[in-house]
Amino acid sequence: MTSSLSSSSVEKPTEDSHPPVDLEAFRHQRSGLERGLERLALMVEGPLERWIAAPQLNPLYYSGTLSILLLAIVAVTGVYLFFFFGYGISESYRSVAIVESLLTGRTIRAIHRYASGALLLTSLIHAFRLFYMGRSRGPRWLAWVSGVGGTLLVFLAGVTGYWLVMDQRAQLLTQAALATLSALSARWGEAAAAYLVSIELSGESVGIMFALFAAHFVLFLILVAFLWIHVLRLQRPKILPAVYWLAAVAALMILAAVFVPAGLLPPADPQVQPGQIDFDPLFLFWLPAALSGQPLWVWGVLIVLTAGAAVIPWIKPRRAVEPPVIVTPANCTGCTLCAVDCPYKAINMVPRTDEHRHKFVAEVTPELCVSCGLCLASCEYEALTLGTQTAETLPQLVAFRIQQIRKTAPEQPIKIVFTCERHAAQGARGFIDQTRDVDGKLISVIAVPCVGSLQPNDLMRTLELGAVETKLIGCPLEDCAQREGNLWAHNRLTRERLPRLRREYAGAAIAASFPAPDDFANCVRRPTAEIAGAAPWTNGPEPEKLPRGLAVIKRLTPRHYAAAFVFLTVILIGQALVTRAPYTFGSRQGTIAQIVLLDPTRQIPVAASEGDTPLTLVLILNGKLVWMRALAPQELAAGQVAPIYAEVPVDAGSARAWLGVVSGHGDFTLVLSEQTLTLEPGQIARFAPVEELPADRHVR
Ligand code: HEM
Ligand code: SF4
Ligand code: SF4
Repeated sequence: MTSSLSSSSVEKPTEDSHPPVDLEAFRHQRSGLERGLERLALMVEGPLERWIAAPQLNPLYYSGTLSILLLAIVAVTGVYLFFFFGYGISESYRSVAIVESLLTGRTIRAIHRYASGALLLTSLIHAFRLFYMGRSRGPRWLAWVSGVGGTLLVFLAGVTGYWLVMDQRAQLLTQAALATLSALSARWGEAAAAYLVSIELSGESVGIMFALFAAHFVLFLILVAFLWIHVLRLQRPKILPAVYWLAAVAALMILAAVFVPAGLLPPADPQVQPGQIDFDPLFLFWLPAALSGQPLWVWGVLIVLTAGAAVIPWIKPRRAVEPPVIVTPANCTGCTLCAVDCPYKAINMVPRTDEHRHKFVAEVTPELCVSCGLCLASCEYEALTLGTQTAETLPQLVAFRIQQIRKTAPEQPIKIVFTCERHAAQGARGFIDQTRDVDGKLISVIAVPCVGSLQPNDLMRTLELGAVETKLIGCPLEDCAQREGNLWAHNRLTRERLPRLRREYAGAAIAASFPAPDDFANCVRRPTAEIAGAAPWTNGPEPEKLPRGLAVIKRLTPRHYAAAFVFLTVILIGQALVTRAPYTFGSRQGTIAQIVLLDPTRQIPVAASEGDTPLTLVLILNGKLVWMRALAPQELAAGQVAPIYAEVPVDAGSARAWLGVVSGHGDFTLVLSEQTLTLEPGQIARFAPVEELPADRHVR
């Protein structure tokens, strides 16, 4: 087929020919940023949609439901791991090592980890897609904010999950937490570090590991509560995806677990600096910055990003937000169609209190209405208005367009195409408000908020008004920006949903197409008759009998499943591989000297009479002062000094170490520890008062 899409733009509405209605207000519900991001996304999504060639198999269109599926997998595998988990710093590691030694155990553990990572990834994809579709504003704020909160919880649950293993990665997480506390307040950091040393020395770490596990589990519970809120305002929320998604995701998770085992790093060791670890950039991307002296920056940026994402619903777009739908009670017959069709529970049927013979009347809850316009298509009684758009708007506009075209081309056949706001902002951009000559037909494109706001009546009347063909082009099925608009439009044309296309129009030149928004030009080009034949609703050959359900839109073949599976494999296995990225933190060449005094008052006995002698705690290695801290003798004497903890990098090699307290006047020396030792590269050497104090340690 040849085409001449680039050919003449016949006319634009002129100043003296204003259309009778202004649909402009309904077209640009999204900001320039949102439309720009969608354009970027379509560079991948468009070709992908055409390659998979079956929207019901495109994983991108199921990012929300796939997230729930992954969360369910995380929950089930988590219950299994819970039964093995032991509490205590070394006990926890030992219990994970036992799980890792069992085939089932290590498979389930790996699935738990990879499903968590995949969940974070699918949540972010879901959020990004909803953002560029403009589904963050208005009454959707509740879903948006709970989504942001939910993703934060997934992230925190993932981080605490890594912590539970008590391996070298967990040790780095501890170091990052201590660095953060120290950056907030040196005193807090020191107290926390000293506390950790105290539980290590006493061996009483059951409590802290239990608290960590409880945090991990409670984060999950709060996440479930958030998800309940997340879909609270949705009618018919799609919670779980079709069974083939379950099969594909479960199979891929098992494959990932078998071929990319999660593995086990060496245990956390207070005497050894962690070496190379498997660094999961999805959950731990912040760790390098937090450990390289910038913990507050990291958390600051994360908090600002999360808070920024959470307030998006309140950032006013430049254009006014569309008004909610208004009911004209006098016209309402109480048929309930609009209440059933509204995807956002914004319409209720309430008992009538007026003289009207019908029992019920539709009532809109304006705070729930997202102005999608879907209910306009449900109502055949002109009882609903969206801003300036009533049931009469479209026929008036179509009549005006046809009249305008006729002025310059009285004989040429006219095709009227209706499309939605998403297409209008992408592939249909060059077609809006223009009439194009394509293969001898003059094509005029009218953009509405959603093709789901078109009644079959609108299409039938378009033909009656003189168009030879009419077509609606909406978002891919399963990916409607208004959730259900394209499906309702499709099902009304297939006569499966009220109000139906009238039977006598079943063979008319009315078609529907649901391509990716960058594919508008191709769809508009295809002649309706060729697509539709006697079955106006399909893009393929005429089905044998009246089609039902989505499957008829494309008969799914193994090729479609294979394409979808390949894409899902790339995402899920790729994500699993990424978690194994090796990373070495810091320099393992040097040694860390760790100075710890858990009970300074007892360990540095200073008499009240010595309360005004200036004292300094020092660490001397090979005669060189490597660290010092001034002590307040009055506080020491009064027993008010908090535990002391410090870390200082020192050279590796043989060292004569002296830890003690000296006075400024040189008349007071207290030996806390004195030893000759070899400092290994990568070692964390602890310098603390020896248990048994020599009698002569206090020298005056
Ligand atoms: C924790 C992971 C998440 C899961 C499991 C999840 C799941 C879902 C599900 C199942 C739906 C219903 C889809 C439908 O029936 O149309 C949904 C809708 C929605 N999600 Fe999420 N979601 C998650 C994260 C997010 C995030 C991070 C955001 C945004 C920041 C978000 C924003 C939304 C919005 C705005 C809707 C409503 C769409 C609309 O009203 O048109 N979600 N989500
Ligand atoms: S425009 Fe109609 S269908 Fe859409 S949310 Fe509002 S009441 Fe519901
Ligand atoms: S579709 Fe129209 S007539 Fe039917 S209940 Fe809704 S407003 Fe009333």
